[in-house]
Amino acid sequence: MIEHFDDYYINLFSTLIYNQSGIHFSKNNRSILENRLRERLKTMGIDDIRTYYEIIIKDPEELKVLLDSVTTNLTRFFRNTGHFQTLEHFIIPNLVSYKKEKGGSRLRVWSAGCATGEEPYSIAMVLKEHLPPLFTAEIIASDLSLTSLLTAREGFYNESRIGDVPLDYLRKYFEKKPDGYKITDSLKNTIRFDYHNLKFESGLKNIDILFCRNVIIYFDEPAQKALINRFWEAMSPYSFLVLGHSESLFGMNTSFEFVKTDWSCIYKKNTTGKEK
Ligand SMILES: C[S@@+](CC[C@H](N)C(=O)[O-])C[C@H]1O[C@@H](n2cnc3c(N)ncnc32)[C@H](O)[C@@H]1O
Repeated sequence: MIEHFDDYYINLFSTLIYNQSGIHFSKNNRSILENRLRERLKTMGIDDIRTYYEIIIKDPEELKVLLDSVTTNLTRFFRNTGHFQTLEHFIIPNLVSYKKEKGGSRLRVWSAGCATGEEPYSIAMVLKEHLPPLFTAEIIASDLSLTSLLTAREGFYNESRIGDVPLDYLRKYFEKKPDGYKITDSLKNTIRFDYHNLKFESGLKNIDILFCRNVIIYFDEPAQKALINRFWEAMSPYSFLVLGHSESLFGMNTSFEFVKTDWSCIYKKNTTGKEK
């Protein structure tokens, strides 16, 4: 059992993780990093951190595994219900009227940092229920946690995890299995799950609705600013950004407008030159 790691290597690992993902380990939460490293070394049968560092800087696959292991993937269906009420009563009506004006009928949605899928599936259910006929939505859901993405793609959840799903949605969009619930194929097929590390360019463009909740909380300020700038570039001229309940752009000097709806606070990008 490895009791204690040399600070020098802990610093090397935390710098590597930060540079490769934006995830920041402060002095206070270094013990989390140490525990995850200890687990990795044990699994690989290595008893010295220097050897592991030499492996990781040469092996991109092992780096992915380590990054996955330091993420927090906690999530829930309809987490922060206010965001989903805002989606239904504010974002969808606004975007539908904007798109109609422009002669469009397609929305692009991105759930960035989707963890095990509950967030994009919740978004997909609200869109299915509340988009007018003839409107369609393309939903992209991404994460750097490969293990979480496997669960998300499978779309199977134990009974204990579906407690926040409204009953009528449960009946419509889930199939009951002996040991839990499975998302129906017709809902699943509206979402594309991709591996993507938010530290880097996504290549996505024209996103109308961007949910990135409870992700930037793990980044430090420079990494947050860089990500928010990339989001700005990926979003449509008229579009909405939803951050986590305890996250904000306060003090970040961005061009996003703060919008307080009856249900929650979100951000708007509007470079159309029109007051909307
Ligand atoms: C706490 S979960 C949030 C899940 C969901 N958005 C929610 O609010 O319920 C944070 C997710 O962000 C992901 N994440 C953290 N850093 C990331 C990065 N650099 N690129 C992509 N995903 C990242 C983690 O893997 C994790 O699944």
